[in-house]
Amino acid sequence: MSTPQTWVAVATVKEVTRRRKLRVEVDGVAIALFHANDRIYAFADLCVHQDRSLAKGTLLHGRVICPGHQWRFDLDTGYEEDQDLCQPTYAVHVDGDTVHIDPTPREVSGRECAS
Ligand code: FES
Repeated sequence: MSTPQTWVAVATVKEVTRRRKLRVEVDGVAIALFHANDRIYAFADLCVHQDRSLAKGTLLHGRVICPGHQWRFDLDTGYEEDQDLCQPTYAVHVDGDTVHIDPTPREVSGRECAS
């Protein structure tokens, strides 16, 4: 049985789409929001490698490129193919002009990450 989701409003859609990247904080945890493919994605902002900010990274070919050492995280799952590990991601819900996230990181299951 899964835990019910608790949605937290974190930004407006315009704030994210205007710059394609936005860093917000929820309960002291930094979250990076990205706009790509007409969707909004939410990642833990601090890279699992050495804590660089993914919100300062680059979006390219469906991946977030970390500014630290260019690890490439899949936008849908957070999976980094070369390292075989995952960046935590969060479920996103858009209601009107408001972006909500579930502040509990999505389940990580092996190579599938947070699908
Ligand atoms: S800190 Fe992100 S790849 Fe090294």
